[in-house]
Amino acid sequence: MSSSFCFKCINSECGREYDALENIYECTACHDLLDIVYSFPDFDPRQLKDTFRSRRQPNQPLDQSGVWRFREFLPFEPDDYDLAVTFGEGNTPLVDAPGAARYAGLEGLKVKHLGWNPTGSFKDYGMTLGVTQARKLGMEAVACASTGNTSASMAAYAARAGLRAIVFIPEGQIAFGKLAQTMEYGAQTVQIEGDFDQAMKLVRELARSTGVYLLNSINPYRVEGQKTVVFELLDQLDWQVPDRIVVPGGNLGHSAAIGKALWELKQLGLIDRVPRVTIIQASGASPLHSMLASGLETLRPFAPARTHATAIKIGSPVSWKKALRSLELSDGWCDAVNEQEIADAKAVLGRDGLGCEPASATTVAGLKKLLEANHEQDSVTIHPGEKVVAILTGHQLKDAEYTVNYHYGKLALDSLEGDTREIESRYGNPPIRAAADLEKIRELLQL
Ligand code: F0G
Repeated sequence: MSSSFCFKCINSECGREYDALENIYECTACHDLLDIVYSFPDFDPRQLKDTFRSRRQPNQPLDQSGVWRFREFLPFEPDDYDLAVTFGEGNTPLVDAPGAARYAGLEGLKVKHLGWNPTGSFKDYGMTLGVTQARKLGMEAVACASTGNTSASMAAYAARAGLRAIVFIPEGQIAFGKLAQTMEYGAQTVQIEGDFDQAMKLVRELARSTGVYLLNSINPYRVEGQKTVVFELLDQLDWQVPDRIVVPGGNLGHSAAIGKALWELKQLGLIDRVPRVTIIQASGASPLHSMLASGLETLRPFAPARTHATAIKIGSPVSWKKALRSLELSDGWCDAVNEQEIADAKAVLGRDGLGCEPASATTVAGLKKLLEANHEQDSVTIHPGEKVVAILTGHQLKDAEYTVNYHYGKLALDSLEGDTREIESRYGNPPIRAAADLEKIRELLQL
């Protein structure tokens, strides 16, 4: 049994449909974003859950992938499966974070660490699909703009598929680990003298004018792959729906995907309720939060965006309408946290033995903020006893420089224009300097 699918404009007044084989990323009539919509056959929810679980065993590459294991919900036919470009992505653990829970004021907290993916970030969930579609379409080159993780992931999957990879990155604004990966995987890396939003604009124009296949999350295939994070999470929870899922927000493709997954699972009866989706942005790059907090109907870009969490240093997120839909579906909320809050939350996650990159730590910082604030609005308020899952999106080693600077007490705000306060190293754990003398070392360690 397979589903049929097509592209559909998200604007309800337009709703134009297109063949999902077209090389387009927006509605050609009204220029709004596109979804992939399915007409699913009559699935038996229980049987589907059993099928997903049974695929954890076999050694076939498709079953081994934490994305392709859920292929009934993906826009590919069985005939396409041989084309799949997979590194066995996904399969990321769901673990307790007791220290982070205490810090945030929760009785318990589970984190799903998507940083433990083949290229160290959640992007691999979507990229396996995006690059497979590029191959299916017979593309020779793929391109993206990136704050570092999309480019690392795209470069790796394109290398595996034998495709030319072109990435646009904002010069001097991406973490070293990510730049290193992109170069090593053989992508042509164009450093733009400008920010991510400018790079995004340029790469969209490049795709339009040359036909190069665009692999930012504006491409609906990327979102479809990222959806499976929720499938995997619910399977790990034996389909017991949590009260809340918390995600960082940058270009807002990830939060869009989480909402779409929840909507489809609810439609098909695999879940009977939808957890609230809470998106957390860095306050210097928080246009969605600002829009909601000020009750506006449209998003006003932040220019320039400012944060040390470079992964989410984005002032004009392309998928904001889809992310808003996730919030509306789940009666969720988008909030923002400052640089000190991000840095401390990251260090606290480190003490749980987890670690993550700065952008991911917005989740725990946001939880703490919202628990302390005790809002009156239901969608905003978080209760200590809620069952919460925080999604950590990137590996700790992506941005080691940030971590080292924090622990040495050298993570200054001065590079962020307009803010001269220092970030305090409240949970700092710098090395102890010692002479090469065991007696003195024992004294220092009090051993
Ligand atoms: N966390 C990390 C580690 C990221 O790299 C990103 C986005 C996000 C969160 C936010 O996800 O954009 O879907 O809202 N990184 C993109 C990139 C922009 O180019 O790697 P989003």
